[in-house]
Amino acid sequence: MAEEREVLEVPLNGNPRADTQGETAPGAIPSEKSYEFVADDVTSNRTNSVKRMLIKEYRKIGRGAFGTVVQAYITPNKENWYGPFAIKKVPAQTEYKSRELEILRVTDHPNIVKLEYFFTHVSPSDNKVYQHLAMECLPATLQIEISRYAHNKMELPLKHVKLYSYQIARGMLYLHAFGICHRDVKPSNILVDPSSGVLKICDFGSAKKLEPDQPSISYICSRFYRAPELILGSTQYTTQVDIWGLGCVIGEMLVSKAIFQGQEPLLQLREIAKLLGPPDKKFIFFSNPSYDGPLYSKPLFTGTPQSRFEKYFGKSGPDGIDLLMKVLVYEPQTRLSPRRILAHPFFDDLRREKYFFPRDHAQPVNLPDLFNFNEFELQILGDFAERVKPSQEEHSQ
Ligand SMILES: Nc1ncnc2c1ncn2[C@@H]1O[C@H](COP(=O)(O)OP(=O)(O)OP(=O)(O)O)[C@@H](O)[C@H]1O
Ligand SMILES: [Mg+2]
Repeated sequence: MAEEREVLEVPLNGNPRADTQGETAPGAIPSEKSYEFVADDVTSNRTNSVKRMLIKEYRKIGRGAFGTVVQAYITPNKENWYGPFAIKKVPAQTEYKSRELEILRVTDHPNIVKLEYFFTHVSPSDNKVYQHLAMECLPATLQIEISRYAHNKMELPLKHVKLYSYQIARGMLYLHAFGICHRDVKPSNILVDPSSGVLKICDFGSAKKLEPDQPSISYICSRFYRAPELILGSTQYTTQVDIWGLGCVIGEMLVSKAIFQGQEPLLQLREIAKLLGPPDKKFIFFSNPSYDGPLYSKPLFTGTPQSRFEKYFGKSGPDGIDLLMKVLVYEPQTRLSPRRILAHPFFDDLRREKYFFPRDHAQPVNLPDLFNFNEFELQILGDFAERVKPSQEEHSQ
């Protein structure tokens, strides 16, 4: 899946350079209290070469269900330091978790976090072996970015919502083409660089390559972002569960809070029914013929779904409402596919104007390259490629 590439290392500024010697900048290593150790099996994900390296961790940046994420630099010789990386540590040798490494080893896309190195190390605190995944490090998550605006009683500007939603959909176009389902789409698993507008999907700890006719567990995905078929207990779901998550994330960017906040698993369906209307019996039966939970078949609100979407997401304009109403639908097969999402008029602004205003910036900044599709993406886009790419006139503006 990964293309042949030249040998790259990541020097201190975090930008890949075609210079295997890296950068000599000892003074650039932050002086915060750090933990150092040597690992013998540091494998480069780009070249597959294995080296003994010194790892210098200096800041915890995340904690999850299975382990921690730290910021760290890596050096083969104490002169050339590579990084900063975000190193995710998960207990080694659990089948469930090794999928994350397997998937990150083969993915190579501008909107998927890049794995640079991986290695194992015995933790001094519990004497257990931990798999270490050293990834490119981004400054924030979408969750942090949304809450920064919310703290100031603001919402993300619409242009940012478009920019971030588009890149999530582009990452999904790529993943889903391989059958890889992320299964935990939510703002804390989406990394952003607010000053450049770049977005990358991360946390493949729950991801799985779905095979047709092979069942998968339905108790997956964080509750607020869980697709209705998962809530009903479907075990034959598709990558469209991620599209539901994308709809929830777009909604959350618009209103600064999770849009369906069920206080327990089955109440999650009730929250969805308040906006979409009751799920129909056929959908429930196809999701799980033995479902015997509440049906929420009586309307919980007055008015039409259209009027409720307009009331809730009015800020996104008619195109945004149209997109959300086609993404947040019960039937997974009716939910828009990634390429239809990319081609939706909601993203025409990104095709027309090539700039945005990052938070706290008075000057516009060029958008990241959103249309540099490689051959593989063009193939998946097919006829849609022309609708997704800006037209020549749009380009020249
Ligand atoms: N490449 C990265 N750059 C910057 N921050 C990161 C990066 N990877 C992870 N983080 C931070 O660490 C947090 C936890 O990472 P991640 O979501 O991968 O693990 P997790 O939630 O523990 O995983 P799991 O859901 O599998 O238990 C993220 O929400 C984010 O804040
Ligand atoms: Mg996570």
